[in-house]
Amino acid sequence: MSLALVKEIRRVRDTYQSASPMAVIGDNPVEFAASVGLTPDPYQADMLTSQHPRKILLWSRQSGKSTVGALLATHKALVSAGTTTLVVAPSEDQAKELFRKCRQFVAEARIVNRSETQTGLELVNGSRIVVRAAIERTTRGYAVDLLIVDEAAQVDDQAYFALRPSLMRTRGDQILLSTPRGRRGFFSDLWHGDNEWEKSRITADDASVDRDLLDREREELHPQWFLQEYYCQFMNRENQVFTDEIVHGAMRGSHAPADLGGIWL
Ligand SMILES: Nc1ncnc2c1ncn2[C@@H]1O[C@H](COP(=O)(O)OP(=O)(O)OP(=O)(O)O)[C@@H](O)[C@H]1O
Ligand SMILES: [Mg+2]
Repeated sequence: MSLALVKEIRRVRDTYQSASPMAVIGDNPVEFAASVGLTPDPYQADMLTSQHPRKILLWSRQSGKSTVGALLATHKALVSAGTTTLVVAPSEDQAKELFRKCRQFVAEARIVNRSETQTGLELVNGSRIVVRAAIERTTRGYAVDLLIVDEAAQVDDQAYFALRPSLMRTRGDQILLSTPRGRRGFFSDLWHGDNEWEKSRITADDASVDRDLLDREREELHPQWFLQEYYCQFMNRENQVFTDEIVHGAMRGSHAPADLGGIWL
């Protein structure tokens, strides 16, 4: 190959790389969102720009949680070469819903993939986004730079605890996205715990949720369910006669059967 040809190949490659969208995506995920046609709501922008390594987004239904997760996953993959972002949810289908948004953002940004499947993609910079159901046997074995847990309140404790070691060597970040689902399990414990997580609570009043539809939900849903789904209330289980505290106390023996009103059998 002649020297002139080698120089020409280099020139074309350098021109392509400097013009490639990946080369011009900056550090700010809000600007990245704008570049793919999305204007984040202020509460979304706060979480997109937060540098905190461990975040809990306790947000109302349809407030844009998965969208924020997808923006952060995609932005991380684009700007941090060679990283692995793991997206999990109680079922693979739920995780794929978030991943569908990632694929859309990658396409909007006109980024070329090295490979893509229904459950993951790899960019030309070597970064990966991997999608799994939060089931212990499918999530072991990764070294993860960013862990995103969608619908986190419905993920089993065992699956979540098995995921945490995958962040050790990488000192990876975590983002938990959810509406509440009862005052039990790791999500409730981390939210209520005195710890160093950044916690964001957005109810339907703060979010861009249609007011008329919200009023209809208020009229038609069981009040406990409505408060849980739209006002981020950690309720005791549906139709439960006793509070979790009393039931757990009884299990530990700190409440005598008589404390349960004589109904304890
Ligand atoms: N900033 C935004 N601008 C316009 N549309 C948005 C924005 N954020 C989210 N959406 C849209 O709002 C809808 C709900 O978003 P998303 O699925 O992210 O919410 P969610 O809180 O995860 O919902 P769910 O509680 O059902 O899981 C989607 O159609 C999404 O595309
Ligand atoms: Mg969602």
